[in-house]
This record gives sequence, C-alpha cells and structure tokens, in this order.
Amino acid sequence: MVKNVRILEFPCYLDRFGSLVAIEACDTIPFDVKRVYYIFGVEDGVRRGFHSHEALEQVLVCVHGSVTILLDDGSEREEIVLDDPTKGLYLGHMVWREMFDFSSDAVLLVMASEHYDTSDYIRDYKVFCRQTQRR
Ligand code: TYD
Repeated sequence: MVKNVRILEFPCYLDRFGSLVAIEACDTIPFDVKRVYYIFGVEDGVRRGFHSHEALEQVLVCVHGSVTILLDDGSEREEIVLDDPTKGLYLGHMVWREMFDFSSDAVLLVMASEHYDTSDYIRDYKVFCRQTQRR
C-alpha cells in the first residue's frame, strides 16, 4: 500500500428524497479545508496531475462519474478507481499522483489543507524520487 494514502468513508444520509453526504473539516476529513476546486469536462485520453506536494494534504472525491488515480510514494505504485461519492481519497504529503480515464460526466472535487501555492509543488518525477529517498 502506498504511504500517506487512505480511503475515507463518508456517512451518507439516504431517504426517499435522495442521498446526502456532509463533510466536516477536521472531523470527516483530517484537516481544516482552506481551498476547494473541482475538475470536470476532461476529454478522453487526457492524463493530468503529474506532481506531488511537499506539505499539502488533499481529499479527492469523485462526486459524479469515475476517474482513475495513479499513486506513487517513491517505492510503491497503486491505481485507485474513484466512482463513489460516499468515499474520499486522502493524499498526504509526498505522494505523486496522475489522474486519467475520466468518464465524460466525471466531476472530481478536491479539498485542500492550504491555499494555492506553486512553491509546494514537485513536478519533476526524478526530483520527487530523490526527495522521498532522503526522508
Ligand atoms: P494544474 O495544477 O495544471 O492541474 P492538474 O494538476 O489537475 O493537472 O492546474 C490547472 C490550472 O489551474 C493552472 O493554470 C493552475 C490553476 N489552479 C489554480 O489557479 N488554483 C488551484 O487551486 C489549482 C489546483 C490550479
């Protein structure tokens, strides 16, 4: 199993009116949410991500459709399909991620522990591997 990664299961309130998932910062997810973004309208064959973060924590939820996430901690690799809005993928720091096989209706919601900061990104896979070996 890739380090610093886990699946979170959110409580889902299902009644005759439909389903509702509520996410509470510092509770349902293990950090205070400072930023939310979502990715949608990704065309067939597109692969995105290709980075890790020095410190940022994130939770990814595919709220509609499906997407596959490749995860890599510098020694192990794993692919996870997200296709359930009641499950979140927690990614801690220093996890290389690539996102692909988006269904045409996929909406990938991401909650992040910090504001957008380009200096926290590692976009070179070789640099990422070197840094994980040093830790
Ligand atoms: P990018 O990091 O390339 O997305 P991905 O990792 O999914 O391939 O981001 C795409 C664009 O969106 C880029 O111009 C930067 C911008 N962006 C923000 O302005 N704020 C954000 O929080 C994020 C994640 C991206």
